[in-house]
Amino acid sequence: MKKDKEIILESTTLWDYPTQNYGDRPHGDNKFNGVTPAFVIWNLLQRYTKPGDLVVDPMVGSGTTIDVAKELDRKVIGYDIAPYRSDIFQNDARHIPLDDNSVDFVFIDSPYSNNVKYSEHPQCIGKISCEKEEFFDELEKVTKEIHRILKPEKFISWLIGDHWRKNSGFIPVSIKLYQRLCKYFESIDIICVVRRNQTSNTSIWHKRAIEFNFYLRGFKYLLIFRKSQILNRKS
Ligand SMILES: C[S@@+](CC[C@H](N)C(=O)[O-])C[C@H]1O[C@@H](n2cnc3c(N)ncnc32)[C@H](O)[C@@H]1O
Repeated sequence: MKKDKEIILESTTLWDYPTQNYGDRPHGDNKFNGVTPAFVIWNLLQRYTKPGDLVVDPMVGSGTTIDVAKELDRKVIGYDIAPYRSDIFQNDARHIPLDDNSVDFVFIDSPYSNNVKYSEHPQCIGKISCEKEEFFDELEKVTKEIHRILKPEKFISWLIGDHWRKNSGFIPVSIKLYQRLCKYFESIDIICVVRRNQTSNTSIWHKRAIEFNFYLRGFKYLLIFRKSQILNRKS
């Protein structure tokens, strides 16, 4: 049983934390639309990295990965197409300016479709709907870059959610992305991260979900992969 705001090392595949942040200091900006729960990154860095390792987030948003990594004495580089603060480098995740085999761990929480407006930048992948195969083609380009920069035997973790809209119905974004990642990496595990503080967590949305026979999104997938020396199919 977790005490309020106490952070623990997760031991199961179901991760649930009541707030975006932990501790007394901010990690990222919880006002940022689409901010990652900081405990997710804390858990991943504890498991898959050690102090001094280089952590990279190619779509760092409000900087949650930077703040958690620094606190844990990891080296960190955060990129974004539209930098939110001055310690974030402007860069398109499809071309990462780092050497081959130079990074110890990659965390990424990408757009899930075109449901959130992150910026006006024309190269923002969040402008493409997940109803189009192009969305997954662009995320595959990011995958390929991550594979290139990651050292052999090191880990990458990708947070992603599914999509339901009245007109398009259900799109299993996480499973479709998982299939693309499997072309490059060895699958290690899938974690279910409970969604908290959703704007749709209101009585009117719960009523609509029952009336119109759909489900509100209750969790995200945290996909964990390793760059295996055996599986090296860069297609
Ligand atoms: C879900 S948010 C990341 C949230 C972040 N982890 C945080 O805690 O604040 C997705 C981010 O992807 C960025 N993005 C979209 N397309 C991109 C691209 N082509 N290259 C780099 N970043 C991109 C957006 O600008 C946005 O900040």
